[in-house]
Amino acid sequence: MQGPKPFLFAALLGIAGLVQPMAALAQEDPLKWLPPGSRIEMTLSEHPARAIISEQQGGTPGYLARLGELVFRSPLTLGRDAARRGISCEACHTNGAANTSFTIPGASDQPGNVDLTHKEFHFREDDGKFNPVNIPSLRGVRWTAPYGHDGRFPTLRSFSHNVITREFGGPPLDDWLMDALVAWQMEFGFLDGADPFLPGAAYRANCQSCHGDTRQMPPRRVHDVGTGRWVEAPVLRGLAESAPYLHDGSAATVADAVAAHRDMRLTAAEQAEAIADAQRLGMVTRRFDPETLDGDVARLNGFIDLINQQLLDEDGSRADMVGDMVAMEIGRIYRRFDREAAAARGLIREWAKTVARATRLGLDGEHPAARDRLAELRAAIAGDMAQLQAHAAQSLYAAAQVAPDGGEPENGDRQ
Ligand code: HEC
Ligand code: HEC
Repeated sequence: MQGPKPFLFAALLGIAGLVQPMAALAQEDPLKWLPPGSRIEMTLSEHPARAIISEQQGGTPGYLARLGELVFRSPLTLGRDAARRGISCEACHTNGAANTSFTIPGASDQPGNVDLTHKEFHFREDDGKFNPVNIPSLRGVRWTAPYGHDGRFPTLRSFSHNVITREFGGPPLDDWLMDALVAWQMEFGFLDGADPFLPGAAYRANCQSCHGDTRQMPPRRVHDVGTGRWVEAPVLRGLAESAPYLHDGSAATVADAVAAHRDMRLTAAEQAEAIADAQRLGMVTRRFDPETLDGDVARLNGFIDLINQQLLDEDGSRADMVGDMVAMEIGRIYRRFDREAAAARGLIREWAKTVARATRLGLDGEHPAARDRLAELRAAIAGDMAQLQAHAAQSLYAAAQVAPDGGEPENGDRQ
């Protein structure tokens, strides 16, 4: 057991101030550090569909973006307090979309809303007010600078730095990890939706200047449209997946959101037409990508490759940091199996031990030996799959077999 990182193991274990073997890391449920009734993960079947730009273009994300995916998903990114509670960027911005069921009683007034400056959430940044906001989707975020509801941050880098250091009170990310985190966010594309179409006259005259359409991004300026806050007009493309609407999630339907705009001088017919166009812009054809055991394990293997890359670079210290994040990923899979599936959990726990052995060797400068351990790990994972599948009934994967959407386009009012 290495000495210099007691915090990390404590965080992994969910036990402050206690150092235990790595093998125990995944046994702890982060929910025990959160108020009863908290929900920080979407169910596996309502997992938002993946829309990664390089994949949409027929390729695959590059090395930096793949590392960024791991950083985005890792609770270690947001500092000690968040790590203990299992909160990562992914918890709120699941698969680059919005976690519409995220709830922390005390800090949320409805699912999908959170007050990041509330004592239930952040012991240091309590502003003494209860003002929860709706978690935004990050689809297409590379095109929507500046960032933050009031557009205070010119770049994804400055916004992400602020989230980590200020909103979560974590230590600043090392540059190489921040580069990766930004690269991953730059990969968030829009979901495939309605074919690009030209909205009607009412929309073009009354809405497009602030909201854009499927071809054109709106200019980013802040407005108070009568909802009590100066905010940027959100892009309406694909909005169907992130109901309820408005910064505080107070509008259940697109029509409610439009009704909240002050000073709209539209006839009833124009308003109906503009709403219909907004709904069409907001349509998505495929909303969910249920998480599966095979999918989780494929992603894990990709992340294990990232440790290998650092070992090829003979950077044992970076390999160790990546290894800790990978251990958290192993913990996710572990927790998806019921306690009764002890045999399955036991196999997965061994994976975490092997990662720890490999990164220990890397820290000792034994890079080739460390890579051999990783090769053994891959073989072990492949060999364990049949047993894990056999226990799938005792896991969350069982409930996620059938996707709840039938592939029909959904507009913002169909939940
Ligand atoms: C507890 C939930 C939560 C977590 C965790 C979280 N965010 Fe957010 N995020 C929000 C909320 C709420 C907003 C809207 C607040 C605002 O705009 O000021 C937001 C806004 C953003 C935006 C701005 C979007 C825009 O178009 O203006 C970006 C980018 C972002 N988050 C990235 C991240 C990254 C990167 C992480 C991890 C380092 C992260 N978030 C962690 C809830 C969260
Ligand atoms: C002056 C700029 C402006 C105009 C014009 C405008 N909006 Fe908005 N709209 C906004 C802003 C700003 C928000 C966010 C308000 C909030 O969150 O409090 C918003 C929010 C919305 C939302 C909710 C989006 C979400 O994801 O929460 C919808 C839907 C919407 N507008 C549709 C329309 C339609 C349809 C029209 C034309 C009839 C229109 N808007 C005209 C600025 C504008």
